[in-house]
Amino acid sequence: MSPATLLIDNIGELSTQDWQDGSADAAAASVLRDAAVVFDGERIAWVGPSSSAPAADERYDAEGRTALPGWVDSHSHLVFAGDRTAEFEARMAGQAYAAGGIGVTTAATRAASDGDLRRLLAARVAEAAAWGTTYLETKTGYGLDVENERRSAALAAEAVDEVTYLGAHLVPAGADPEAYTELVCGEMLDAVRPYVRWADVFCERGAFTEEQSRRVLLACREAGLGLRVHGNQLGPGAGVQLAVEVGAASVDHVNFLDDADVEALAGSWGKWPGPQFVGRMGTVATVLPACDLSTRAPLAPARRLLDAGVQIAIASNCNPGTSYTSSVAFCVTTAVLQMGLSVQEAVRAATFGGALALRRHVGLDEDGQRAVGSIAVGHRADIQLLDAPSATHLAYRPGMPLTFAVWRAGERVR
Ligand code: NIG
Repeated sequence: MSPATLLIDNIGELSTQDWQDGSADAAAASVLRDAAVVFDGERIAWVGPSSSAPAADERYDAEGRTALPGWVDSHSHLVFAGDRTAEFEARMAGQAYAAGGIGVTTAATRAASDGDLRRLLAARVAEAAAWGTTYLETKTGYGLDVENERRSAALAAEAVDEVTYLGAHLVPAGADPEAYTELVCGEMLDAVRPYVRWADVFCERGAFTEEQSRRVLLACREAGLGLRVHGNQLGPGAGVQLAVEVGAASVDHVNFLDDADVEALAGSWGKWPGPQFVGRMGTVATVLPACDLSTRAPLAPARRLLDAGVQIAIASNCNPGTSYTSSVAFCVTTAVLQMGLSVQEAVRAATFGGALALRRHVGLDEDGQRAVGSIAVGHRADIQLLDAPSATHLAYRPGMPLTFAVWRAGERVR
């Protein structure tokens, strides 16, 4: 049982990520020293200097450690059975990643019982929380028939915060691509609809064509789902432009971009309208650093995107094929060391950016949820403590287990 109110004080560095205009000045102002936070149940009730913190039912002494919002992981594929070690070994020996491996995981997932899938999923969610993830999206996409996609969506809805329908992950072996696309837009969509908030499509050579992807996205939009796209992962392609065209909340991977792609993404935002804006929103570019390393792909151009005015997110893409890790901290480290982001830019992308990609950066919307991804009064009480004097240690001490304590909706989960 959590106390009604909890004071976490003596925080050496508190990175609120409450700097939605994206400017460097606001970033600096969002990092407080000698700070404190008060939770009232599941919500943040107070943020400020330790010296003026109000009393609470219980006190937790952070002993000078660093506090950040919990990670918001806006892209993962956690509903699966089986293992693809052999494919990974072949890749490390020089073979290129191809989408066909999805079929191997689909066979293993279809063969697993509900109980096995539920246990595997729960273990993965717990592992993510232990590394500081407090808000988690996951996708279907290893069922690829009506009943197995429905089952994946239902199991995911029991376990994570946001579920995305990815029936359009791969055309299953032996299926006719046109007939399968129709199924994804019709009977399969109807079956998953009660469990999902989002729809996604793998718009790539070897998966779905631009025309098929558009058809899927428009059918899902018509059914009331928000949209996401896997795009420009394996080569230049139509994914980014299509995502902007249909008003997708995010386009993910974005490894192969030309100038027009970057312009389209930046143009989707125009001038950043401010933290409380909930009207016309642009398309977030979600970069997946662990996937880029594991597939030996050119790293997504995160620096270039930020410099162009694009809102970015960092996510784990945890899945058995291209990125078998749920450690967002590892992704943040990589984004700093390899993608040219500052520590605060990378932390922002993995917290506020993820929330923006899931449209949870502002709270109490149509389904009554609180905002996540930044530390501010009224937001959900999702906080992680690093056993370090500053967030810089995430990159300065790569690979070290810095996650010290984690609260999710006010509950201590680590
Ligand atoms: O996001 N690119 C498509 N889907 C996953 C990989 C899935 C797999 O290979 O199993 C991804 O990387």
